Amino acid sequence: MSGAQEKNNRVKLAVSRSVADLRRIVAGWRAAGDTVALVPTMGALHEGHLALVGAARAQCHRVAVTIFVNPTQFDDRADLARYPSDIGRDTRLLSEAGADLLFIPAQEEMYPPGFATAVTVSGLTACLCGATRPSHFDGVSTIVSKLLCQAAPDAAFFGEKDYQQLLVVRRAARDLDIPVRIESVATARDADGLALSSRNANLSREDRARAPALYRILCELARALASGGPAKSILEQGRRMLEDAGFARIDYLELRDGETLAALDRARPPARLFAAAWLGSTRLIDNISVA
Ligand code: PAF
Repeated sequence: MSGAQEKNNRVKLAVSRSVADLRRIVAGWRAAGDTVALVPTMGALHEGHLALVGAARAQCHRVAVTIFVNPTQFDDRADLARYPSDIGRDTRLLSEAGADLLFIPAQEEMYPPGFATAVTVSGLTACLCGATRPSHFDGVSTIVSKLLCQAAPDAAFFGEKDYQQLLVVRRAARDLDIPVRIESVATARDADGLALSSRNANLSREDRARAPALYRILCELARALASGGPAKSILEQGRRMLEDAGFARIDYLELRDGETLAALDRARPPARLFAAAWLGSTRLIDNISVA
């Protein structure tokens, strides 16, 4: 066990609701010579979030987790209204996972009256989720930039399930000279392959049974793409497979460069396959590397 992990085993989860309090606690850690990790979340925690906390603990002495359901990244009010939340359960899970601090600000703390600033990352946000959710990434890059400025961590941890988000956040931090390492953690999956997501809780029993087809089909397509086949015909076939598996609407199924997100007509490193598709009123996203 690393020194950082040992230290974390001895601490109790503190809860902070104001930026001033967050800064005071982080300043205390810094004064003691500790390094600091930040794990931004919107709550409704699952094993994927806990894997982020685990990775953060392995790299830093102190781990702060944020829970803030950020309204500016929802382009659909109904999606925001039904976003799952269970703060009591989240607090217990974070305590057990060895986090040191839960920052859980109110809406007015993050967006005080008169708030008028946004962080926009161009290019990377034009495709995939950005094409169907135009304001989503401005909301993400704005709130994550704020959290990074508030907590001033050494490293911040994001899951590869939201791969485009990871690239956008990394670009924003780099372009704004925010002195932080943006670390990525592999997608956590259920035993049947479904990528863990807080939104999975909204799936009906029937749709939950259909959902693992998304990952299964991505894996099948990735194998065909890796053996050199043309993306156009393989992806057309993939769309039919998704429809046959019960996905009512497909927002995208695309092969792209895993660093620039440029569209690819054949797989070449670092190619990645991305999909977003709907089961009932739940939108699932997933992505895998095409080796
Ligand atoms: O991935 C999420 O949960 C959110 O987009 C994030 C990074 C916490 C920003 O609100």
